[in-house]
Amino acid sequence: MKAIIVYESMWGNTAAVARAVAEGIGPEAMALNTSEATAEMIADADLIVGGSPLMGFMMPTQSTRDTLASGKQHRDNPPDLSNPSMRSWFKTLSPGSGHGAGYETGLGWSPGSAAKKIARKLASTGYETVLDHERFLVAGTYGPLNDGEIERAKAWGATIAEKVKRTTE
Ligand SMILES: Cc1cc2nc3c(=O)[nH]c(=O)nc-3n(C[C@H](O)[C@H](O)[C@H](O)COP(=O)(O)O)c2cc1C
Repeated sequence: MKAIIVYESMWGNTAAVARAVAEGIGPEAMALNTSEATAEMIADADLIVGGSPLMGFMMPTQSTRDTLASGKQHRDNPPDLSNPSMRSWFKTLSPGSGHGAGYETGLGWSPGSAAKKIARKLASTGYETVLDHERFLVAGTYGPLNDGEIERAKAWGATIAEKVKRTTE
């Protein structure tokens, strides 16, 4: 099974979850940022898991990224905006056929969802949702991930792999 976990991450928390999910899925899974997840890398993927931070109750918009880029906030801990947003990445995704799942990182109290939209977008491109979308919790704007979240991400990845295996047997 070819499995790709593609993520947008400004401070590294969503990236860390992507690596944990990949580990949970198994050695055939690769965690790639939106620059690395080129059409060539994605070609023939049986499973795509997408992840982004929850910002303003949704997947980061261009306007959120522009505000972050303006540098007025977060001077002490600047965001990494060198890779495209998940939203732009989706525009480059060609229709495929396989399984999909979405996750987000965010704060426990927050309403809204990025993961749901990610799963829906994957499904509408041919990567049918294999497991409910998930949120992995951070302690504050820059993280860190709460204790146990890396383990939970590995377990979530392992469950996805099991479900994919079951549906293809
Ligand atoms: C501008 C901004 C808006 C945010 N909005 C939300 C939000 O609506 N809900 C939430 O749970 N967390 C929110 N957060 C916290 C982010 O979800 C958290 O920073 C994210 O997990 C960081 O992921 P990353 O390290 O992969 O960039 C926000 C953070 C920033 C900087």
